[in-house]
Amino acid sequence: MEQNKDINQFDIPLAKRTYLNNSNSILLKKLLIFSPFLFFFFSIATLRLIRNIELGALSNLNFKAERSYDHRILGHLPYKEIPKEKLVLIEPNIEVHIDMRDSLLKMREEAKNDGIYLVFLSGYRSMNLQNEIFYSLKSIRNQEASERARVSAPPGYSEHSTGFAIDIGDATQRETDFETEFENTRAFRWLIKNAAKFHFKLSFNKNNKYIDYEPWHWRYEGSIEALKVFETSNREL
Ligand code: DAL
Ligand code: ZN
Repeated sequence: MEQNKDINQFDIPLAKRTYLNNSNSILLKKLLIFSPFLFFFFSIATLRLIRNIELGALSNLNFKAERSYDHRILGHLPYKEIPKEKLVLIEPNIEVHIDMRDSLLKMREEAKNDGIYLVFLSGYRSMNLQNEIFYSLKSIRNQEASERARVSAPPGYSEHSTGFAIDIGDATQRETDFETEFENTRAFRWLIKNAAKFHFKLSFNKNNKYIDYEPWHWRYEGSIEALKVFETSNREL
């Protein structure tokens, strides 16, 4: 009893439990409460990101497929044969699409006024004729298809079947007909400067990977029908 009394006389410090109410613990609590929501939003965002990446890759693939699947053969695009009723004779052996006749004749007239004499070498060509040109000459010249296709389109793949293509020479330098040297004639220089005014465009320039440069071969793009026909060819550029 005496001993207990002594103990009570000392000031013994007691352990006290204090609750820290600092900002870190509040944040932690909030994080714990909102963590399911955060997890949910994060998952949705991740899924959306993955989906976008996949869609991007897919559209890239489609674009590539579209580009490589334009039905080209040996670098030549397919062309339908013009209906007979749209063909007109402009010279004893030259037929062209009726839509381009006036512009073509006007171009020759304007050139003549400038002292340049254009001569038309080849206009519309039927599939049969193109067949002859491609296969017979290929055989006679002992050429492989890809080699032959550098200078002549396979049947069904020539701009000449549409009636919108014309091969042009210089009447004063016939030795350059269908030759690369045609580019050194006055007729060619005149065409480069003026053909666009009459809606004509050089079809096979020096950048073509599969088809040789043809300074004599021009196509008409002065009507919606013609533009539709050459849309794929123009789109690739
Ligand atoms: N010479 C061109 C490529 C054609 O045959 O149509
Ligand atoms: Zn041609």
